[in-house]
Amino acid sequence: MINFAIIGTGVIARQHALAVAMNPNAQVVAVCDMNAARAAEFAAEHKVEKVFSDYHELLADPDIHAVSICTPSGTHGEISIAAAKAGKHILCEKPIETKAEKIDELIREVEAHNVKMECVYQRRFQEIPQKVKAALDSGVFGKVLMASAYMKYWRSPDYYRSAGWRATWEFDGGGCLMNQGVHGVDLICWFMGGVKKVNAITRTQLHNIEVEDAAVAVVEYNNGAIGVIEGSTCVNPANNARFEIHCENGTISFDDEGVLQWVLNGEDLQVNGPDGALSAKDDPTKLATDSHSPMVNDLVDSILNDTEPSIGPKEARKAVDTILAIYQSSRECREVVL
Ligand SMILES: NC(=O)c1ccc[n+]([C@@H]2O[C@H](COP(=O)([O-])OP(=O)(O)OC[C@H]3O[C@@H](n4cnc5c(N)ncnc54)[C@H](O)[C@@H]3O)[C@@H](O)[C@H]2O)c1
Repeated sequence: MINFAIIGTGVIARQHALAVAMNPNAQVVAVCDMNAARAAEFAAEHKVEKVFSDYHELLADPDIHAVSICTPSGTHGEISIAAAKAGKHILCEKPIETKAEKIDELIREVEAHNVKMECVYQRRFQEIPQKVKAALDSGVFGKVLMASAYMKYWRSPDYYRSAGWRATWEFDGGGCLMNQGVHGVDLICWFMGGVKKVNAITRTQLHNIEVEDAAVAVVEYNNGAIGVIEGSTCVNPANNARFEIHCENGTISFDDEGVLQWVLNGEDLQVNGPDGALSAKDDPTKLATDSHSPMVNDLVDSILNDTEPSIGPKEARKAVDTILAIYQSSRECREVVL
């Protein structure tokens, strides 16, 4: 049995508790929140015995093998580093951390203490992205020419008021890209093998927040393809997240609800995926109950079999590095090479 502790018992923690409960080789044995009442309430709801309000005390407990980090994004590095030093395996919410230097440090500590670390990008495990990645990697589509990701979402003023850390540079690390759009940036980076350079404009257009609520970047990927990455939390009603990939031998495009186009050598292959997948495009609580299961399963398997998790810290940082380059490009009005 892998004994998990959940650190941070807010909105996303529930997905972690459900996913651990669904894994036959794992259980949640402890929770922690700096808001002690919130931690106690969550522990009662999920029938967890040990409750902490200081994660350092939790990390000193030898019965705990792994931690789920569900705290504000700007704390992920600090808590991951402490967990690695305490010898705990780590499932960390997206983004892995918001500052590049902290990511460097956490990678060093994870390697030095020989723990497994996985970052939550649950979209990678969904059926359509899996099919897209396999098709592109097989080479049948030939050279990838253009690849674009559109994450045009809605977040209400109430959402931004729902917790003090939201939309702050210190704890959210950014806005519509670093928080909401990071899933899509991760997917397009994964498909293309990473980003080489960006030219971007980011703006705070509508919301009364310090970070961006709109971003457009022109991108060159490591595989030579070019495209755009767009993000917003001002689009009401929200659009489905959409991905368009044009290759020498055909086109793949898909959105939150399914495949839009899958044409190879002039033939419409009618490839499809699950219809009407739940989407958090206008509400972060709209996630399927099993959204985080593949992530927990992947980490538990990697611990039990001593293999590398699918989305380790070096892989998880690609989306963050891309977003940081987009911010820098906008700030300095110039192309940024990663
Ligand atoms: N994978 C997804 O689809 C997804 C969806 C939503 C949120 N997230 C990520 O999950 C993280 C949390 O988001 P949320 O919406 O659940 O936030 P939230 O504000 O609802 O919950 C965060 C909790 O962490 C606690 N906390 C803060 N600092 C702490 C510390 N040092 N020690 C212990 N507890 C601490 C807070 O008291 C709060 O209860 C963010 O990084 C966010 O990007 C991921």
